[in-house]
Amino acid sequence: MLNIAIFASGHGSNFEALHHAIADKKIQAKIVVVISNNSSSGALSLAQSFNIPAFHISQQQFSDPNLFHQKILKTLQSSNTNFIVLAGYMKKLDPAITRVFADRIINIHPALLPKYGGEGMFGMNVHNAVIAAKENESGATVHFVNDEYDKGSIIAQQKITIEANDTPETLAAKVLTVEHELLPSVVRMFSERI
Ligand code: GRF
Repeated sequence: MLNIAIFASGHGSNFEALHHAIADKKIQAKIVVVISNNSSSGALSLAQSFNIPAFHISQQQFSDPNLFHQKILKTLQSSNTNFIVLAGYMKKLDPAITRVFADRIINIHPALLPKYGGEGMFGMNVHNAVIAAKENESGATVHFVNDEYDKGSIIAQQKITIEANDTPETLAAKVLTVEHELLPSVVRMFSERI
C-alpha cells in the first residue's frame, strides 16, 4: 500500500482533496504524515483535524542544514513513508531526500509545464505571467521531482481554457479546482501499481 507523506507550506487544499479521496475509498492508500516548513500552514491544522501526524520542520530550527534534512528523513522513515506528494511545498528537497525516494516523489504545479515553471514560478506569479502572456489555456501538471525546480518528467496534465475576462485570480481558482481532481487521479494510478 502507498504510505504517503504530504509536504505543504500553504492552505493545504490539495492535501485535503487527496485526504477526502482516500477517506471515500476512491484510492487505496494512507497519508501517514504531513510535514510543513510553515508553522501556520493550513495543512498542519487540517492534518490535526484528520488525526494524521503532522510536523512543523523548518531549516530555522537547525544550526546545520544537514541536521534539517536528516530530521525530515527520520520523520519519513519512522512513519514508513514510501511515497511523497509535494502539495504546495515552497522549499526544494535536498538531494539527501530525493536520492532515497527517487521516482517516488511527485509535485503538483499550477500551469502547463514546461511553460511557467522554474525558480520563482509559484503561486500568483504563475497566473500573473500566464495572463500577461495572453495565453488561451493553462492548467495543472503533476510531475516527478528531481533536483531541479519543475524539471522532473511530466506524469499528467489537465488543461483549462482561459476566457477573455479571466484575471490572475479567476484563473488561480479555476486551476486549483482542476488540481483537486488531477492530484488524486495520479495518486490513484500509483496506488494501483504498487
Ligand atoms: C497549488 O496551486 C499547487 O499547484 C502549488 O501550490 C498550491 C498549493 O495550494 N504547488 P494548496 O496549499 O494545496 O491549497
